[in-house]
Amino acid sequence: MAAVLEAITVSKLYPKRRGLLQRWSGAIRAVDQVSCALEPGDAVGLVGESGCGKTTLAKLLMGLLTPSDGEVRVHGVPLGRLRGGALKASKRVVQCIFQDPLNSLNPRMTVEEILSEPLLIHRLASGGARRKRIEELLETVGLPAAYSRRLPRELSGGERQRVGIARALALEPEALICDEPIASLDLSVGVRILELLRAIRRERRMALLFISHDLRAVAWLCERIAVMRDGRLLDVAPTEELIRHPRHPYTELLIRAAALDLDASP
Ligand SMILES: Nc1ncnc2c1ncn2[C@@H]1O[C@H](COP(=O)(O)OP(=O)(O)OP(=O)(O)O)[C@@H](O)[C@H]1O
Ligand SMILES: [Mg+2]
Repeated sequence: MAAVLEAITVSKLYPKRRGLLQRWSGAIRAVDQVSCALEPGDAVGLVGESGCGKTTLAKLLMGLLTPSDGEVRVHGVPLGRLRGGALKASKRVVQCIFQDPLNSLNPRMTVEEILSEPLLIHRLASGGARRKRIEELLETVGLPAAYSRRLPRELSGGERQRVGIARALALEPEALICDEPIASLDLSVGVRILELLRAIRRERRMALLFISHDLRAVAWLCERIAVMRDGRLLDVAPTEELIRHPRHPYTELLIRAAALDLDASP
């Protein structure tokens, strides 16, 4: 079976700016010839230090950035070749959630409006069916139906992240990309979000790309881990194998820093 999502020797260069005149002075290789694939139902964790290129890779995979080189494929079809209806359909396949839900949710829209938007754009439900679907989505993410009338600022950080997850699930994606979804939350709230993601994944057999600084969270949630450094993937292996037998000294360093115990909870 073809991968849901695939990167084939993808690179992204950003112009490097220097000095007051902001003159062009070469380029940063934020992502450097990365190949990876997300199979149906796969849970892959992406770890690496700040600035190593995780978000850039995520944006390339979501089609929010165009690769400088290489290509991203959705079900084997290069993103760059999709147009019109096929492009719109591909957007349903991959959905994402971000670190700061306050920035990614429109502050003037109620939760109901936020969750309606994808349903209306993709003509999935209207009228009574739409309201019923919104109730279901809120239930899935553990929020009361009455929250549909609230604005993002009337929610806690954890609740906002739940709305972000509900919005992503509205389109029944085959893959969910989470870029540091718990980094701005309290530890206990973050753990609840991790538990929610794990439950949703198991119920829906949805593929997950989970980006985090937190190797411990990644090891708990994901079956495979990819270690990124300076725009490259150093190590990609099943979680247990990677932790018990790291192939790269840098991976070993991350494991030691996280003081990982494979049998512990997150
Ligand atoms: N729009 C941009 N223009 C120029 N350089 C950028 C841009 N976005 C990111 N970069 C640079 O590309 C590199 C990778 O950035 P990226 O945001 O992908 O890292 P990251 O691994 O997500 O970091 P973090 O863990 O802090 O979120 C960094 O050196 C960053 O400064
Ligand atoms: Mg990032």
